[in-house]
Amino acid sequence: MNWFLSALTSGIGRKVIMSLTGLFLILFLVIHLAGNLQLLKEDGGVAFNEYSHFMAHNPLIQFVSKANFFFILLHAFVSYTLYIKNKNARPVGYKVSAGSANSSWSSRSMSLLGTLIFIFILLHLRGFWYEFKYGTEVTSTVVNGVEMHNAYQWVADAYANPLIATFYVISMLVLGFHLWHGFSSAFQSLGLNHVKYNGLIKLAGKFYAIAVPAAFAIIPVLLYLKSLS
Ligand code: HEM
Repeated sequence: MNWFLSALTSGIGRKVIMSLTGLFLILFLVIHLAGNLQLLKEDGGVAFNEYSHFMAHNPLIQFVSKANFFFILLHAFVSYTLYIKNKNARPVGYKVSAGSANSSWSSRSMSLLGTLIFIFILLHLRGFWYEFKYGTEVTSTVVNGVEMHNAYQWVADAYANPLIATFYVISMLVLGFHLWHGFSSAFQSLGLNHVKYNGLIKLAGKFYAIAVPAAFAIIPVLLYLKSLS
């Protein structure tokens, strides 16, 4: 535990924690996306309901889920302490926006983008995760003889609301900007940047930052359009 406390109190340690938790969350998003894409199957929600039921009842997944929540909080908390530290080190601020010459808007706005994503996650968990776990309004269905939550119907009903669907699409845009800088930055902070691979890591980061949020965003758009027909 001592190593963890030392990491939390050193500048380099905090950067390493940011990178490792960030990479874990990058991996989580791919798995989460793969599961969510089942919402688009034309099977009346059977695949998504089975997937959701499995996720909610598998002990290993439940353990990883707790680790996931911990890493989200740690990532947010450590980034906040780094933000305060940087602000105190430079109380007056730059007269000319520091990065206008050699850093992108997304790299200068990581704290703002991260805060918006954190708010999105809180609302997202309240609307889906909390309702599935503790709510009483999610209806039930029977799939292959097993009674389970009709998670598909709950999500489809949510995205039938254009305000909710739009909120998700805008949030995925914010997520994309955060990842645009965050993906390669995580590798850099871990010292995993070699001249030979830098270009490849940057390219992979940009591909991920566009493809993953775009694929997430397609889900509310298509379910909203489906609700109209
Ligand atoms: C269209 C996009 C998305 C859909 C349809 C969706 C759907 C869901 C659903 C249905 C759950 C509840 C799972 C359950 O408890 O059975 C869930 C949980 C969760 N979602 Fe999403 N999600 C989306 C995007 C995102 C994004 C972009 C993030 C992060 C930035 C995210 C983070 C989470 C987290 C952290 C959980 C809790 C997972 C756990 O138990 O560890 N989701 N999502």
